[in-house]
Amino acid sequence: MISIKTLQERKNSSDKIVALTAYDAIMASIFSEAGVDLLLVGDSMGNVVYGFDTTIPVTVEMMEYHTRAVANGAKNSLILADMPFAACHESVGEAIKNATKLLRAGAHGVKVEGAGDFTISVIDRMVEAGIMVSGHLGFTPQQINRFGGNVVQGRTDESATNIVSDAKKLEKAGVSLLFLEMVPEELAKKITESISIPTIGIGAGKYCDGQILVSYDALGLFTKFKPKFVKRYASLADDIRDAVLSYKEDITKGIFPSNENSF
Ligand code: KIV
Repeated sequence: MISIKTLQERKNSSDKIVALTAYDAIMASIFSEAGVDLLLVGDSMGNVVYGFDTTIPVTVEMMEYHTRAVANGAKNSLILADMPFAACHESVGEAIKNATKLLRAGAHGVKVEGAGDFTISVIDRMVEAGIMVSGHLGFTPQQINRFGGNVVQGRTDESATNIVSDAKKLEKAGVSLLFLEMVPEELAKKITESISIPTIGIGAGKYCDGQILVSYDALGLFTKFKPKFVKRYASLADDIRDAVLSYKEDITKGIFPSNENSF
């Protein structure tokens, strides 16, 4: 069973952390059995499971349902659940209540986007309450409307300096892992070398302590668009379409069900 301690020991080692997003029990059990260290119940479910354009409509209740399913399926991996849009911003009390729902659903920890002053104070209190928190910097999808789209962050000196400073603030507040999304490789390297907690990259180059992809992207299930940082390891959308066409043809031609499938 992978714990946060296992992942912390991978910091700066050649033994990289392998992470994927998961949203349901079957996929989670396959990923976990295949040796994926970390499963993130990502609010990317808004895009890939629910068909929204952004992660903003995802609620704490949706996160709870999917976290329970992933926890039922994954027996060996560390499970993190995203704190969805605005779940951390009403008050410290509300944030802790929301995180508690995700922990009770089976997550080992939660992930929070950003490092604003209020967010840092919330993380501080969460950590004090015993909650394992991960940070997320660079392109933070819940702020897509502020960024004006899926835009690489940290390209200017000022923006890069701010991200490094935010990473240090998050480390000081007690986060256990830091996700870096869509930042230049050299910036991710600098951050990885400047903090003592593991970094997990998505579109952040090869120097992070681990890598994550949205599983529907990596498996070729989500094909609406393909970000530059995605590598597809399967073509499940095509495989499913072919399987359904064969099923349809068998029924149409009276091939299925056969004697073998009948009582
Ligand atoms: O929701 C998600 O899938 C994420 C990853 C992109 C890191 O936050």
